Amino acid sequence: MNVLIVGSGGREHALGWKISQSRAMGRLFFAPGNPGTSLLGTNLPVSSDDFEAIGSSVLFHDVGMVVVGPEVPLVGGIHDFFLADDRLRDVRVIGPLKSGAMLEGSKDFAKSFMTRHGIPTARYASFTRETVDQGYGFLDTLKPPYVLKADGLAAGKGVIIVNDLAEARLTLAEMLGGKFGMAGDTVLIEEFLRGVELSAFILTDGSDYLILPEAKDYKRVGENDTGLNTGGMGAISPVPFADAAFMKKVEERIIRPTIRGLALEGIPYTGFIFFGLINCQGDPFLIEYNVRMGDPETEAVLPRIESDLLDLLDAAATGRMKEKKIKTSGNVAATVMLVSGGYPGDYEKGKVITGNEMTGRGLLFHAGTREEDGILKTAGGRVMAVTALAETLPEALEKCYSEAGEIHFEGKYFRRDIGFDL
Ligand code: AMP
Ligand code: GLY
Repeated sequence: MNVLIVGSGGREHALGWKISQSRAMGRLFFAPGNPGTSLLGTNLPVSSDDFEAIGSSVLFHDVGMVVVGPEVPLVGGIHDFFLADDRLRDVRVIGPLKSGAMLEGSKDFAKSFMTRHGIPTARYASFTRETVDQGYGFLDTLKPPYVLKADGLAAGKGVIIVNDLAEARLTLAEMLGGKFGMAGDTVLIEEFLRGVELSAFILTDGSDYLILPEAKDYKRVGENDTGLNTGGMGAISPVPFADAAFMKKVEERIIRPTIRGLALEGIPYTGFIFFGLINCQGDPFLIEYNVRMGDPETEAVLPRIESDLLDLLDAAATGRMKEKKIKTSGNVAATVMLVSGGYPGDYEKGKVITGNEMTGRGLLFHAGTREEDGILKTAGGRVMAVTALAETLPEALEKCYSEAGEIHFEGKYFRRDIGFDL
């Protein structure tokens, strides 16, 4: 089967790397991909939100499956677009319809869904410009820190946590005043949950599911989890505290009620669900849903899956998840993200990258890179993810960091303490 992967980051490179190992694999395409993915398949000059061009490419190249990496095309209705076209209807699309993508596209929808289905989550209320005074009142009922969230997609920047009540009131007013555009027309205020975060993932056909290896993401730019939030600076899988007893609670209290809730509400679902969890003294709470895999979690999770991923994706797309099992390796995966100096603030692009010829110890996934006259250059904040697998976490980290040290570009920065807390 020919497969097209939508997206251009490290997650999509890792998905392509794993899928291309499948026995059923035909030709592999990326829309638009990056210089790393061009080593695995064909990069098409098609943007991830140009559904018409993606549809035409699928027909032209006889693609049987489209795997959607990022959330924006899913929330924008790429799956609905395929179903609405007679020529594209039978193409397998990995990723939910717009209705299911609301779990990520609207935090208000996600929280009310969790409440309707008894899924443990932080106490919250939502407010609009008309109800801002009630919002101030709700803030008075909470203890600091205060968590404020724009309802819509805001590229990971829509969550603001402040310690001071006056600042929280000001933030609420600014958010409702258009700081995040339409994404902030509705703002959620949440009780702050204290605990360690982790990411759990399933692949589902809407009725049955497989639980993928969990991961821990390191979101802050600075060592010891300090500084600004980023897209993710590294990941570790497995997560030691996510033992069988904890994961059983996650499955019973969060995963199963989610699948049951989707079915009850008549929301079909094909693809990945990413549960952003927090461990509060041994009990899992759900912070958020994402309707896709995480980045950089994918770069740590997929190398630990021994099963044929294309076979599992095909089962998800054709309602045969029940027949499948997943085989995962007992190894530990460590992923370190190499970023441009200054990220997540301002940074320069176009720096020449050297030393990226793999030395064979680790895996290298491109994120923000581009090729110019045969020369590899930086093209984004997160430039490359280096993953290493080993029997123990210290060994995986040692391999990963020795690989990360081989790659050079001006201003290269990475956290040297990934996994420090585990
Ligand atoms: P998000 O952009 O939704 O992934 O949220 C960003 C981060 O904010 C999460 O990864 C958490 O670290 C933090 N966060 C969100 N909601 C809460 C909450 N209710 N309590 C504590 N931390 C939170
Ligand atoms: N690493 C977090 C995310 O993909 O949203």
